[in-house]
Amino acid sequence: MISSQTLLENTHFPVMLNEVIDLCFSKKKVDLLDCTFGGGGYSKEFLKIPNSNVVAIDRDTKVKKVAQEIKKNHKDRFIFFNNRFSQIEKILNKKKFDAIIFDLGLSSIQLKDYARGFSFNSEFDLDMRMDPNSIKVEDIVNNCSEELLKRIIRDFGDEENAGLISKNIAKARKLKKIIKVKELADIIKSSKKYKYSKINPCTKTFQALRIFANKEIFELIHGIASATKFLKPGGKLITISFHSIEDKIVKYYFKNYSSNKARGSRYLPETSKKDTSLFEVYKNKIIRPSLKEIKVNPPSRSAKLRFATRNSNNYQFPNDLIIKFKNLLNLERAYV
Ligand SMILES: C[S@@+](CC[C@H](N)C(=O)[O-])C[C@H]1O[C@@H](n2cnc3c(N)ncnc32)[C@H](O)[C@@H]1O
Repeated sequence: MISSQTLLENTHFPVMLNEVIDLCFSKKKVDLLDCTFGGGGYSKEFLKIPNSNVVAIDRDTKVKKVAQEIKKNHKDRFIFFNNRFSQIEKILNKKKFDAIIFDLGLSSIQLKDYARGFSFNSEFDLDMRMDPNSIKVEDIVNNCSEELLKRIIRDFGDEENAGLISKNIAKARKLKKIIKVKELADIIKSSKKYKYSKINPCTKTFQALRIFANKEIFELIHGIASATKFLKPGGKLITISFHSIEDKIVKYYFKNYSSNKARGSRYLPETSKKDTSLFEVYKNKIIRPSLKEIKVNPPSRSAKLRFATRNSNNYQFPNDLIIKFKNLLNLERAYV
């Protein structure tokens, strides 16, 4: 078994780093808010630009060490907050940024630290918490009702065998508590109707349980909505997502709060509608990693980069975003 410590030494390749830099380099000096610091790939690169400043956030306590190393060389230009990005308003003061980046999902440092249970190849316990305040997946699979498990796996994982998987989890836990990653992986594999697929049979269920355990939909919606308040006019909100739900949320936000679609809340009467847009015209452009990057870093293949440019309208919290995705938000709150 590979030790958790050895795996921690693995680094994370920042996805589409050149593309992110190109987007932000119309200026000599950039004030960056890196909401998903991880191994610090983007933060380190932006600190190479003279006089640029980086504020970084990550919920994972284990990345504090990486941040401390950077701080040694950039005392005045780098600040790190070990917190969730949904808490941006509480963390930040009045500072405004030229670019804010959300590189969503897991870092390879987390995935390869087998003791954390994110990988279906782990022989450790079912954990998958990004920070100590989240719920362990072991708790979820042993205590949520079969019906709730089915909804989690179906709605967050888009798993076609969600019914069978949750039924078999409920059956197995009556005999013995499900503790190890391998025990859950075996239940999922035996529940899949079609055994042959390009992706590992556990991928979708693991992703769904991780999203649920870490309340990632709440985090994303509140993160991007609050972060917008801290963008300078002309500043860019950049997201890199790996999951269709994440991309759907970002796309809805950028499209519906851009000036090409300027309108008030659709829940208000026609007469009281005013321009509540937060972004300039949105072109619905998706940037994908180059073939060269995918060759060097295969997990980047499903990444989608989107960005929107802040306009000069006053900031108002984009309530429509919450209303639009209320079903997913309610599902995430079903077990706390
Ligand atoms: C894909 S990695 C980012 C990798 C980073 N860009 C790099 O170059 O190393 C995502 C990181 O975001 C963090 N993260 C995920 N959700 C978060 C949240 N709600 N608040 C703060 N950090 C979060 C994870 O802990 C992880 O370290």
